[in-house]
Amino acid sequence: MPMPIRPRLSTPSDSPAAKAVPPASSIDASVHVLAHRKSSSHATPPFFIRVKFVVLGLPGVWVALIPIKLFKVYRLFMRPQMARFTRLAFLSREVCNYSFHHTDTSTRRLAVLLANHLGGISVEEVLRYCGEVDRIPLLQAIYQAARNQDKVLRNLTDRELRVGRQLLYYCLVRVLKPRLVFEAGTAHGIGSLLLLHALKLNAEEGQAGRLITVDMNPNAGKLLKQLPPDYQALVEFELGHSEMKLAHAPAEIDLFFHDTANIPDHESRHYELLQKKLSARGVICTTWGMGGQLAEFSLRQGRRYFEFTNEAHEHWCNDTLGISIPSTTTNLQVLQ
Ligand SMILES: C[S@@+](CC[C@H](N)C(=O)[O-])C[C@H]1O[C@@H](n2cnc3c(N)ncnc32)[C@H](O)[C@@H]1O
Repeated sequence: MPMPIRPRLSTPSDSPAAKAVPPASSIDASVHVLAHRKSSSHATPPFFIRVKFVVLGLPGVWVALIPIKLFKVYRLFMRPQMARFTRLAFLSREVCNYSFHHTDTSTRRLAVLLANHLGGISVEEVLRYCGEVDRIPLLQAIYQAARNQDKVLRNLTDRELRVGRQLLYYCLVRVLKPRLVFEAGTAHGIGSLLLLHALKLNAEEGQAGRLITVDMNPNAGKLLKQLPPDYQALVEFELGHSEMKLAHAPAEIDLFFHDTANIPDHESRHYELLQKKLSARGVICTTWGMGGQLAEFSLRQGRRYFEFTNEAHEHWCNDTLGISIPSTTTNLQVLQ
């Protein structure tokens, strides 16, 4: 049966006369006047807006808009980045593996992200781990000693040690307390230094772990040569191809870092190998999250995946790191 249409009761305010005349009470009157002004301004947009929409409707106008679009992209994205590129080209010695300070927002976002996804840890605790990184005089001392001894290192690195994407590496080790960390791609060893320091603090808190770090460049790992014995004891530096070394690694990796090269097949082969090498609570982190290899692997394996894009302070380098974790976060906390 069709529903009966209820007649709309007309109220005094519906009549045209009532619309024109404000109600008697002063508050009601002012509200009424405002509403009246608003509705009349919607009814008749200003002259230039009407002209604009007439012009925008002309055929082929989108072609004429190309310079405006280019200018907007230039002003919003290219000009700020070009200024940073130019400044750093002259002021920084780095040609790859860029280092930078995180903005405060970037650090806070990192803490929120890890607390949300890993579970069992608060944002404040992750922020405390982030703060530890700024108070490691040993790292500075090792870095400066290595630079003083090596001309090549001096020409390729800046005087100040800045912890860029390695801040995430450090926090992952502090949060997850891994027993075995595998870093594919050592370079000078800045990441390894941070990983080792996190492992050392974990060990002091009763959760020991060690690091295997691999690079095929015979000049890699220069910072590791400066390590004091108690740090040396926690690390094995292996020279060779990361896939070969991973194939021979123990099948108990709790945390794997893919930080060699942005080559999709090479990255995917790491993940295929990791199916036999990762422990039940194993976590994978890639520097090249935007490539999508780790996201696809996680999808196929029923793992959870999330990304972190840092915001660098006065630097153009914005890395997107990918993190793949087992589908149940409880696995991560097994040993904690
Ligand atoms: C981005 S850097 C590593 C940065 C380092 N993890 C850090 O945090 O300071 C990449 C390194 O991976 C090494 N590399 C590239 N392809 C490799 C491979 N197939 N096997 C081993 N090392 C490789 C390069 O020699 C280079 O030193």
